[in-house]
Amino acid sequence: MYALDHVDAGTPSSPSTRLVTLDIDGVTVTVPEGTSLMRAASSVGLQIPKLCATDTLKAFGSCRLCLVEIEGRRGYPASCTTQAADGLKVRTQSPKLAALRRNVMELYVSDHPLECVTCSANGHCELQDMAEVVGVTDTRYGLTGANHLAATPDASNPYFTFDPSMCIVCSRCVRACDEVQGTLALTIQSRGFASTVSASQHEPFMTSECVSCGACVEACPTVALTEKSVIERGVADRAVTTTCAYCGVGCSFKAETRGGEIVRMVPNRDGQANHGHACVKGRFAFGYATHPDRITTPMIRRSIDDPWQEVTWDEAIDHTAREFRRIQATYGKDSIGGITSSRCTNEETFLVQKLVRAAFGNNNVDTCARVCHSPTGYGLKQTIGESAGTQRFDSVMKADVIVVVGANPTDGHPVFASQLKRRLREGAKLIVVDPRQIQLVRTPHIEAAYHLQLRPGTNVALFTALAHVVVTEGLAREAYVSERCEADSYEKWKQFVADPRHSPEATEAVTGVPADLVRGAARLYASAANGAIYYGLGVTEHSQGTTMVMAIANLAMSTGNLGREGVGVNPLRGQNNVQGSCDMGSFPHEFSGYRHVSDPDVRSSFERAWGVPLEAEPGLRIPNMLEAALDGSFKGIYIQGEDPAQSDPDTQHVTAAFAAMECVVVQDLFLTESAKYAHVFLPGSSFLEKDGTFTNAERRISRVRRVMPPRAGLADWEVTVRLANALGYPMHYRHPSEIMDEIARLTPTFTGVSFDKIDRLGSIQWPCNDAAPEGTPTMHVGAFVRGKGKFFLTEYIPTNERTTRKYPLILTTGRILTQYNVGAQTRRTRNTAWTSEDVLEIHPHDAELRGIKDGDWVGVTSRSGEIVLRADVTERVRPGVVYTTFHFPESGANVVTTENSDWATNCPEYKVTAVEVMQVNEPSEWQKRFRAFTDRQLELLKGEQPAHV
Ligand code: SF4
Ligand code: SF4
Ligand code: SF4
Ligand code: FES
Repeated sequence: MYALDHVDAGTPSSPSTRLVTLDIDGVTVTVPEGTSLMRAASSVGLQIPKLCATDTLKAFGSCRLCLVEIEGRRGYPASCTTQAADGLKVRTQSPKLAALRRNVMELYVSDHPLECVTCSANGHCELQDMAEVVGVTDTRYGLTGANHLAATPDASNPYFTFDPSMCIVCSRCVRACDEVQGTLALTIQSRGFASTVSASQHEPFMTSECVSCGACVEACPTVALTEKSVIERGVADRAVTTTCAYCGVGCSFKAETRGGEIVRMVPNRDGQANHGHACVKGRFAFGYATHPDRITTPMIRRSIDDPWQEVTWDEAIDHTAREFRRIQATYGKDSIGGITSSRCTNEETFLVQKLVRAAFGNNNVDTCARVCHSPTGYGLKQTIGESAGTQRFDSVMKADVIVVVGANPTDGHPVFASQLKRRLREGAKLIVVDPRQIQLVRTPHIEAAYHLQLRPGTNVALFTALAHVVVTEGLAREAYVSERCEADSYEKWKQFVADPRHSPEATEAVTGVPADLVRGAARLYASAANGAIYYGLGVTEHSQGTTMVMAIANLAMSTGNLGREGVGVNPLRGQNNVQGSCDMGSFPHEFSGYRHVSDPDVRSSFERAWGVPLEAEPGLRIPNMLEAALDGSFKGIYIQGEDPAQSDPDTQHVTAAFAAMECVVVQDLFLTESAKYAHVFLPGSSFLEKDGTFTNAERRISRVRRVMPPRAGLADWEVTVRLANALGYPMHYRHPSEIMDEIARLTPTFTGVSFDKIDRLGSIQWPCNDAAPEGTPTMHVGAFVRGKGKFFLTEYIPTNERTTRKYPLILTTGRILTQYNVGAQTRRTRNTAWTSEDVLEIHPHDAELRGIKDGDWVGVTSRSGEIVLRADVTERVRPGVVYTTFHFPESGANVVTTENSDWATNCPEYKVTAVEVMQVNEPSEWQKRFRAFTDRQLELLKGEQPAHV
């Protein structure tokens, strides 16, 4: 069932710009050509009864409840399938129509008794509403005939039930799975009275192909498909529009509550990033917000071997401020720093970097984007002038050839993947560049034209080979380049890529990709009317991450694929606010809006606004902070909403650095892996308790609205404000909107942004200023932000992380649909029904060589450490490559990843670790130590000194 406050227009809007005018029940109505009569009527407040229609799905015309009369035409056409046209005279009400509708409804009711009082959907059910509208309270046909009332319900999915006895076989669920989600998991089996909804081959939903996006549940007009949370808590009575706190798609939701408790999250049909769709995480995995593991009282302790002591907010803040000032007095001003989080709002992030620069007095601030998309920021800034993706998601609907590089959208960015699949079903061609056989390579009705299954770590060689084909086969768009790009850099680049050593044939031995596939893919992309590139962490998390981002930009510029709809270079940001945390000045060398701290004009604008002198030298990056901690010169850190002890590479190096510090302050929801090394714990608030904004991968700034009060009493931004004040640097904000006003005053790309404007427009894509008062959906239109686009030479330099006889396999890491990042949130939801551990994917050939069978425990050893995981023997990975995820701390995936990093930005090389894999039968030494340490920290959390200490 759609959201509480949604008025369903029955059919989707028409994109036509041509208008038609008609008469409906005496009212003159003007609508775009292609609009259904049902939607046209709805636009003037006339709701025609319906059951099989809903405005996210194409009209189907099966229920016959929406019949109307049209003057001069015979019969009673269905208003959902009949289009509005100039001069039509339509009647939606008449005695004949009423009788026809009653007949139809009585047939439905004969197989679906109106026992609404006891139904969990009572008061929010379309069948109930429509029965009332057409005046049916009972059926003349009785309930004694053949019916489906004894059908067995399916409760296998953790989040929703399917009760076939309540199904009216309207097909809305089947069409939602096809049209909206693109999984095609549902069918209507059999015919006539025997028709029934079937998941896959008549399987329980949980074991079928269903990915639990919930689109079918929302589409269902009855209680046949219902959220279990609605059954448990009842129909909601209030809705607040907010933004998902999981991935960088940034879906808009209506958070529906009853008695202050969340009943369900319904994707917002007006949401400009998601248009009413969602995935299993955003729609269902909100239970962590009220999980008993939440810590809601501030705590302090002297050392990490001491029990935690609960204190008041004032005590915690004063203690933290005293400790930070003591450390600075002892070890110097630069001995402390802070880490902002891509999980927090723009306003929270802006305040943390301000705290570091203005109150700590240094530039030692960094963000978790360091370990994911920092090469995107640098690479795109250098080539085209702005550190952000170029398009809105809807742009993909105009792409003819789509290149997906080092990204797995169906798992990492599911709602965008659904839109992408829709475009592919319309006929666009797909090129996948990935060492793994990701799901997009072959899904129902879609097959990639090319899958370039390269060896991990050879991206740059492959993209330079693609460019070689473009240049040597005359596929470059010379007129575009000469108008928009630096001629000198282009000439040098052309000569560089044209060198025979960069040909697909010459690089085949390096990349492992057959030359003819490289040539074919290059021709396909370069000759497309609109070619669009979407990429993920498989591009950035390499020693040549920045070089690869530049290679992508080079390729797009040379083929004229930037600066309009349907094209572009689009980083798919991992976490909800990666874009925002970078925009807000979280990097040690940049203020908000990517302006260098050494720029005197920029710096003085902040000095004037903040009333303190600011450092002109960049501060420490996260890896530098950790090194300095081990050197003894960095002693204190404030970490808001981030967990480097699990997410950063070489875990043992990270935890040793934390253990060497004197004051580690963690602000979070749970006792995270980093918090186990903390001296101060400040309870954080979940997205349901926040007020502010997130910025998604499209540069779209959306409101996050408070659905419930912060469980710990203070919002995260209020904690930062109190800490600044306790440190003697005054901050006075009454509401996050005032923080955004300050961001707008200080940041040229945000000057037109305000909470009021976002509320009015729904969302805003920056830049938003005098030149673009309502934001910028497409960047680089007419000219690049940097003026002329600049080509960079992309010499392939193999990573130092080489395979050897001792470490013959390459480990690459990623994520899966049902878990998110370090898993702190999703592990505390029913999503664990799908995954409760990280596993190691290994090709059957490599497994056989080592005597490994599916499900065996295997040791994974690298130069950094050893872990033990369960083997998943699969052809998803190519021979020589193994793959795992990092969602479960006890797996310790990052124990084996190394400190190698991108040459320009220090982004870790998560995607290439040389390892050996062998059968084992017990956990690794690190895992044993981890278990003992965790048990001990959990005892200390209870305020108890462990007996054995
Ligand atoms: S939950 Fe999503 S994937 Fe599963 S059957 Fe419904 S629409 Fe299809
Ligand atoms: S389960 Fe719901 S949406 Fe699907 S056919 Fe039955 S009534 Fe319609
Ligand atoms: S696609 Fe991303 S933003 Fe959208 S609901 Fe899923 S996790 Fe949330
Ligand atoms: S709503 Fe038009 S036929 Fe069902």
